[in-house]
Amino acid sequence: MATTITTPLYYVNDKPHLGSTYTTIACDAFARFNRLEGKNVVFVTGVDEHGQKIERTADLLNISPQLHCDQVSSEYKRNWQLWGITNDRFIRTSSKRHHKLVEQFFQRVQDSGDIYLGRQQGWYCVGCEEYKDYPRETEEPQCSIHKKVLEWRDEENLFFKLSRYQKQIENLLNDKDFLLPKSRKNEITNFVKNGLNDFSISRTNLNWGIEVPGYKGHTFYVWFDALVGYLSALLQEEDEPHLDRLKNCGWSNVVHVIGKDILRFHAVYWPAMCLSAGIELPKRVFGHGFLTREGQKMGKSIGNVLDPEQLLTEFGEDAVRWYLLKDIQFGNDGDFQRQRFIDLINNDLANTIGNLLNRTSTMSRKWFNEKVPNRNETDFTEHHLAKESRKTIYNYNKYMERLEFHKASESIIDLAIAANCYLNETAPWKLIKDNNNIEIVANDIYMVLETCRIIGLLINPIIPSLSSRILLQLGIQLESSSWKSSLLVGGLESGRNLPIPTPVMSKLEQ
Ligand code: MSP
Repeated sequence: MATTITTPLYYVNDKPHLGSTYTTIACDAFARFNRLEGKNVVFVTGVDEHGQKIERTADLLNISPQLHCDQVSSEYKRNWQLWGITNDRFIRTSSKRHHKLVEQFFQRVQDSGDIYLGRQQGWYCVGCEEYKDYPRETEEPQCSIHKKVLEWRDEENLFFKLSRYQKQIENLLNDKDFLLPKSRKNEITNFVKNGLNDFSISRTNLNWGIEVPGYKGHTFYVWFDALVGYLSALLQEEDEPHLDRLKNCGWSNVVHVIGKDILRFHAVYWPAMCLSAGIELPKRVFGHGFLTREGQKMGKSIGNVLDPEQLLTEFGEDAVRWYLLKDIQFGNDGDFQRQRFIDLINNDLANTIGNLLNRTSTMSRKWFNEKVPNRNETDFTEHHLAKESRKTIYNYNKYMERLEFHKASESIIDLAIAANCYLNETAPWKLIKDNNNIEIVANDIYMVLETCRIIGLLINPIIPSLSSRILLQLGIQLESSSWKSSLLVGGLESGRNLPIPTPVMSKLEQ
């Protein structure tokens, strides 16, 4: 059975920013972990290309919406390649096959009796592409996210009978694994408890969208269209788009990873739409927090938006991945601070892990003929570091399964700290002076090198290229297919040649 992992389909009103990069890197780590676990993963990302926001952006640039979408979606693809993102699919909602699937989806929802014509009035935020709950008489209401005055709308729309799904959505939210982390659950549960209102799924003032079959002048509301994009993504170019094919294409065990801003759409509207169209419900929705920069919300108007590409050029992929996944609790808001970033990378990766590996392989090469020494066969599995490693592997797996990347990363560093402490306390450089200690030293050095191997393996989904460098330093070429079975303490072969050590992670300049 496949596991489908999705990022949001990002709006193409602008090129990728640190927020979209953050979500995509997190999904990439999760997808890599699941693949290493032996699961059949379909990792989906893509872009949301319709709606008023995109139409207006193209207008301002004086180009056609399609040309604008072509340009920005290429930027997204290029960016994800630069970051080494391992998505299996990239969906563009302006593609023909997506259009067809949206029409089929609508047909199913209509056949379920969930569509009717009605009048929609309200304050609309084009930035969010969403109606906001302000009374008619409110003077110049602003969107709390975009800080822009809302637009009053009054038009005939098609509505989806969300209210019909009240009970089922309540039940879904009671499933403890559906909406994570727990902290996000209250907000949505309260929203649902207040009673679900039907929502409009078409617009009559929008040209840049998919036409609603049978309703001249109506185009689909961008969110109705975009959410179906998760389904279209699974179909390959050559497939004749059909909802019936989804089962064979990997639509099962679906995990949507999103920011907290779009929780309602994913945890309430989308499941109801799936129920209506007879599509299997997503298994899990994870709503992570928002990033700020040096304590301030990032925004174009403030002029403090962090360009991910600039970060990548200055610090490299390894450093940024580690910072985002280790320093920021996945689920909570996080603040990007340059000094903290540099300190974290230097402490964790260059010192704690890099130096540990460097000094241990130097000692091993010097005392044991440039090889991994022999372990003590009778009791190496009871060694302090063997126990620490087993505990770490157990916790790490638990955390990664729950998308708790910060805890998984922390557990790796704790293991490296334990190995550093062990070296400092046992001081093999003193013990080796007495020839009687050679076997003890050999076993200790073996265990520290073995701990480095475990660290190299565990860090793989989080920082793949550092993982390869750590393992190469131990003379190991990682085979992804044997990752899981390699995570057994004692897997390092004694007698293996150790290459001349070079730093696996350079220190960042202040
Ligand atoms: N197009 C919709 C999603 C449709 S999904 C079928 C959309 N697009 S978006 O471009 O606005 O992307 C929103 C997502 O980008 C957030 O949910 C989050 O994943 C990411 N982020 C955008 N800004 C962010 C931060 N400042 N911090 C963290 N992530 C943020 O909504």
